[in-house]
Amino acid sequence: MKTVFITGATRNTGLAIARRFAREGWNVAISSRDKASAQATADVLQREFPVTVRGYAMDLDQVESIKDTFRQVQQDFGKLDAFVANAANLGIDCGLLNTSEEEFDAIVDVNIKGSFFCCRNAAQLMKQTGGGSIVTIGSVQGTGAVPGRTVYGMTKAALAALVRYMAYELGQYGIRANNVIAGAVHSCRWDTLTDAQIATRRSQYPAGRESTEDEIAAAVFYLCSDHAASITGTDLTIDSGISACLLHYQKKE
Ligand SMILES: NC(=O)c1ccc[n+]([C@@H]2O[C@H](COP(=O)([O-])OP(=O)(O)OC[C@H]3O[C@@H](n4cnc5c(N)ncnc54)[C@H](OP(=O)(O)O)[C@@H]3O)[C@@H](O)[C@H]2O)c1
Repeated sequence: MKTVFITGATRNTGLAIARRFAREGWNVAISSRDKASAQATADVLQREFPVTVRGYAMDLDQVESIKDTFRQVQQDFGKLDAFVANAANLGIDCGLLNTSEEEFDAIVDVNIKGSFFCCRNAAQLMKQTGGGSIVTIGSVQGTGAVPGRTVYGMTKAALAALVRYMAYELGQYGIRANNVIAGAVHSCRWDTLTDAQIATRRSQYPAGRESTEDEIAAAVFYLCSDHAASITGTDLTIDSGISACLLHYQKKE
């Protein structure tokens, strides 16, 4: 039975990814900063699917915490076939002119440093057991600009670069690495929007709709499956056509 580890998987897209792998018969490890949430989510998935699901407390801005968690995953599952760097500090309202050093560090520590050390630990484990697949969750905000997401966008661009280097360095060990560039994904944050705000958002997207979390999960699962055995070092963009626009798209509420 294969094993996947997904960071930040107690809600939204991470949870949808965890559920998709569990439905496909994979054992699932999930992390959260909060042990109780990780455990509660693992218990729910464990009841839903006939696979083993474990929840771990992990601080993405603490390299020792990352190391300890991967050690625990290795002990519990013996191997790792896929790793998904999903958790992120969304860095809302952190533009070039208004971001403090503390805010900058908090975003970069989680999104770049944390993802880097997670990927390294995942790769070390996969290298021992004959390979695997790593997927990072990127964003259209790493390839194009919107107001107030400068630091976040920089970190998502860094993930895309990390994926290229991982593909290059790790291919010899049977490890693939790819980046899913998500556009607008319908998360629980949409629950607070009015119908008018949602309609305005949708009118901005060429496809006329946002992505569902399940659609992102399907792409991640595909990239970790044997169907994608020759795909590495790439971006898979799932953005309702947002990044195809030059002048039309303007992020509005
Ligand atoms: N939603 C979108 O429209 C969209 C669009 C493009 C890309 N993405 C990307 O897709 C991924 C999932 O997005 P989402 O909307 O599902 O995210 P989310 O629910 O806001 O966050 C996912 C998880 O990341 C962890 N996290 C959040 N802030 C953190 C922080 N400051 N430090 C450490 N961990 C933190 C949380 O885990 P715990 O609280 O359990 O620790 C959370 O459950 C992210 O990488 C995001 O950048 C999302």
